[in-house]
Amino acid sequence: MDFKRYLVTAALPYANGPVHIGHLAGCYLPSDIYVRYLRAQKRDVKFVCGSDEHGVPITIRAMKEGITPQQVVDKYNAIIKDSFEQMGISFDIYSRTSNKIHHETSQAIFKKLYDDGVFEERESEQYYDEEKQVFLADRYIVGTCPVCGNPGAYGDQCEKCGSSLSPEQLINPRSALSSATPVKRKTKHWYFPLNKYEGWLKEWIIDGKKDEWKPNVYGQCKSWIDSGLQPRAMTRDSSWGVPVPLPDADGKVLYVWFDAPIGYISATKELTPMWADYWQKEDTKLVHFIGKDNIVFHCIIFPAILHAHGSYIVPENVPANEFLNIEGDKVSTSRNWAVWVDEYVKDFPDQQDVLRYVLCRNAPETKDNDFTWKDFQDCNNNELVAVFGNFVNRAFVLMHKLCNGKVPKLHEDVLDDTDRTLIDDIREAKLRVEGEIENYKFRDALFEVMDLARKGNKYMQDKQPWIVAKSLEANPEAQKLIDNCLHICLQLSANLAILINPFLPFTARKMCGMMKVVERMLDWENAGKMNLLNVGYPLRAPELLFKKVEDEQVTAQVEKLKNNLKQSTMEQQAAQPQNTATEETNAFPPAQKPEITIDDFNKIDLRVGTILHAEKVEKADKLLKLEIDLGYEKRTVLSGIAMHFKPEEIIGKQVTVVANLAPRKMRGIESKGMILMAENAEGKLIFASPVETTDNGSGVK
Ligand code: 2FM
Ligand code: ZN
Repeated sequence: MDFKRYLVTAALPYANGPVHIGHLAGCYLPSDIYVRYLRAQKRDVKFVCGSDEHGVPITIRAMKEGITPQQVVDKYNAIIKDSFEQMGISFDIYSRTSNKIHHETSQAIFKKLYDDGVFEERESEQYYDEEKQVFLADRYIVGTCPVCGNPGAYGDQCEKCGSSLSPEQLINPRSALSSATPVKRKTKHWYFPLNKYEGWLKEWIIDGKKDEWKPNVYGQCKSWIDSGLQPRAMTRDSSWGVPVPLPDADGKVLYVWFDAPIGYISATKELTPMWADYWQKEDTKLVHFIGKDNIVFHCIIFPAILHAHGSYIVPENVPANEFLNIEGDKVSTSRNWAVWVDEYVKDFPDQQDVLRYVLCRNAPETKDNDFTWKDFQDCNNNELVAVFGNFVNRAFVLMHKLCNGKVPKLHEDVLDDTDRTLIDDIREAKLRVEGEIENYKFRDALFEVMDLARKGNKYMQDKQPWIVAKSLEANPEAQKLIDNCLHICLQLSANLAILINPFLPFTARKMCGMMKVVERMLDWENAGKMNLLNVGYPLRAPELLFKKVEDEQVTAQVEKLKNNLKQSTMEQQAAQPQNTATEETNAFPPAQKPEITIDDFNKIDLRVGTILHAEKVEKADKLLKLEIDLGYEKRTVLSGIAMHFKPEEIIGKQVTVVANLAPRKMRGIESKGMILMAENAEGKLIFASPVETTDNGSGVK
């Protein structure tokens, strides 16, 4: 299908904290690259985003800080918006879901579904905090764990022993907000019957998107649909959010995951009076960029709602990325294990493109990936500085030295195969980059651009115009060879500016300045051309495009991460256990791994063992070396839990061990087996140990 226009959305970030580089890598950078490319192609595109300003985490944060939810969202909306601007994320609009237009839009959609009889009304009993006058999600009820006696267990789980709980099981349950004893209250909500749209979803996604959507996205959707969809409440009891537009709905608001995606529509309305073209015409290509924790909402719930409504298009594609870890460990906002964008731009002024480069180069497109500061330094110093920057710089310096500072002529009579090959490479690179971007493969696209710069360096090295210059006195004709080399290198530099522009827009603009061309030269149709710079045109002296990242900067950033972690651990230990209540809004059962047979399971030899000894592994921040007593033998096991536990804390603990895992050598130490851990949504690890002490070596079935 030929699309007339594009609507590109990037997930609306919660306005309850700043954005970190995991957010950038997940959806903001890829969407920005895609949109910048579409704009360079002169396609009709709108790029919308905004702050997600409703939901429980925001009210909790407000209560904790003793301010209003509005004050919370005002503060973080400003910080987030500024971070995006600084990083060159070029939204056409950055809106907010607390805007009037959004309230009206989401209420109108809810009302239409209600009037059409789509919702099911259901009454249920839920826990209520009479003091704070709010209904409590399970996570906001704390009490004593009936299994291990931990006084700070949550209504859904004890993080000390890992037991999964319900609020009824807690001894002495109390509200995490006020310490009042919660009481049960009847409440009514409106449920969207996802089950009724299963057939449509199967046809649309399972049959229709198999070869189009990324395997991670398709796989998650298939797993959800295959395991059967259930009706889901689209309203909540709360005073913060979009009020439910019905007469008997006092104190009820729209579920944040009902209203947030509608925020894309409201933002488009705010942006253009032609908004309906972008949302209601079949020849619009709608693309949602998100992180993987948002897949179910964007691929199943929101499309089903729009389909039920009847007037809206559904997305052509939802290119979700996986997660970006930091220095080998999961990002955690509560442990402050993150690289915050607002801090990056302060610590690395005018180096936005370096971060854009590294995050795109190592983007978690198909699997979780790791960001390390050392790698950041290496990518900058060995690639941006040594390859791209070096090539452009040499072309300009040599042109000033050997061609009087003007674009030299191309002498067809002395063109050779090396010249022609590079000219072909330039044309081909354009097509390759295009193909990769259209398929949302931004890493591969960037690789193609860098590869072209690499070819430029090699060409320059083969031609060595500075050596040829030495023979000029004896052979003035040799000037033609110098001219050809630098003519081609300068045209290649202009091409590189066009191709790198979607990825590194600040650099592309700098290059335009050096070449004294207007930014229109960056139009995609110019890529592949060899006449971008006019012969005889004087060019400026080169500007340094990239500068080295020094070892001290890397050390300082790693130290900062470690200090933040230490600080937040101390703060959490000082605070009440209930103060770690986390997001409930993304809580949706994660997609399961593919089914296995009992025979598959029986292959795993699970045993109980006791940790006899634990110590840090040198030069491996994440690893602990454990000695485990399995009853029948003692084992060395390396475990990536050093960021979570101190060695002395875990000695004597009983753990479940995968005893027949193939041995693996890490840091010169052979690890024989693996210990099992549970991991919550925040990335916190809990030992998956037997609840009662038992003999070492006991089999676990
Ligand atoms: O996960 C999140 O950060 C959500 N605030 C994303 C919302 S995306 C859209 F639906 F608004
Ligand atoms: Zn417990």
